[in-house]
Amino acid sequence: MEFGTPGLPRPTELTDGSPAWLVSRYPDVRQVLSDSRFGRAELYAADGPPLSRAPGLVNDPDLMFNQDGPGHLRLRRTMRRAFTPRAVARWRPWIASIVEQRLDSVSQGEQPVDIVAEFTLPLPVAVISRLMGLDASARERMRHWSEHAFTDGSRDGEEVGAAMADFSAFGAELLAARRREPGDDLVSGVVRAADEEGGIPEAQLVSLVCGLVVGGHDSTMTMLGNALLYLLTEGREFWPRLAMGEEAAGVAADRLLHRIPLGDDRGTTRRAYEAVEVGGVLIPPGAVVLADCGMANRDPDVFPASTADDLFAPLEAPTLSFGAGPHYCLGAWLARLELQLALHRLAAGFPGLRLAQVPDSVEWRVGATSRSPVRLLVTH
Ligand code: HEM
Repeated sequence: MEFGTPGLPRPTELTDGSPAWLVSRYPDVRQVLSDSRFGRAELYAADGPPLSRAPGLVNDPDLMFNQDGPGHLRLRRTMRRAFTPRAVARWRPWIASIVEQRLDSVSQGEQPVDIVAEFTLPLPVAVISRLMGLDASARERMRHWSEHAFTDGSRDGEEVGAAMADFSAFGAELLAARRREPGDDLVSGVVRAADEEGGIPEAQLVSLVCGLVVGGHDSTMTMLGNALLYLLTEGREFWPRLAMGEEAAGVAADRLLHRIPLGDDRGTTRRAYEAVEVGGVLIPPGAVVLADCGMANRDPDVFPASTADDLFAPLEAPTLSFGAGPHYCLGAWLARLELQLALHRLAAGFPGLRLAQVPDSVEWRVGATSRSPVRLLVTH
């Protein structure tokens, strides 16, 4: 994939043809994502340049991602304690045992094994299901919801609307069930915190819960699939060292997250609420800004070319693959841990893992903003 060279903020066009400002240098992207003069809530406001509002979850105005300032913080606080590095570290034993179960099914399956069906998909699905206390029926519908929630705009709008209505009904029922009968899962924690806080619109809680179901597995599944394809082809030399220790696998996981984008759509958009200077260029009030994290992750002033191809070189600065600022990925620690454990144990358990198909024959998922192999056939 071509990333282009980072440079000064400059006018560009979004995929729907609407005007925007492209911000691509590492410090500039960090500024846009962290500065409260840029926001998402008014991204689609009528008085700015029009933006097409494709159906799906990401454009849902009730989604936490589309709230700014105190309203955003209020929602995020309902999960403040759940996703801290310390809290996530306590999940390590049971996440490791899910990884082990998946390794068993890889080793017991008839070869060649589809590692997507046996590993990269069921692992994050099992993790988020356990955290949220989801049953088998929800697990079965999760991919259907994800494919529609993260549509790239190519799906029929009515079909997406129907899938999202079904998903919202599920989210509302899940919240109601946990209000009636609280447990020690994440959804019960959200309900408790929201009731203590008071005043949070129910629709925002429903979108929050739905966002966790799909956000909690789709990105991790995508990263795992793409990382494995790389490690079993061009990056095969790194496989033995991944097996040697969890620490090295953690550094490699960070590099892989940093390098491999979730999809073709690398930028994240914000609206400038007033005139703001970014990297010496004045962005006018009302402008839509496309912060290109993929390009910024390759900013040569921050990430030297000398370490770019070394999977075991610690990153010189925090990656922007999880964003930055108030919307910094809530699940970053969890995703890192899943990736680290998965890669280490897979490499340790299957030192001879090989791709059993030519790389060019890999079929890619289409129709969604995230992009990863539909299946990956391997032998061990
Ligand atoms: C490899 C895995 C993942 C990647 C690369 C990723 C990436 C991101 C990025 C880039 C953002 C910020 C978007 C922006 O500011 O434009 C984000 C936000 C978010 N992510 Fe993740 N994510 C991953 C896994 C997860 C997981 C496992 C969860 C949940 C358990 C999760 C939940 C969220 C939520 C709720 C937000 C919105 C935060 C807010 O608006 O305050 N993500 N993610």
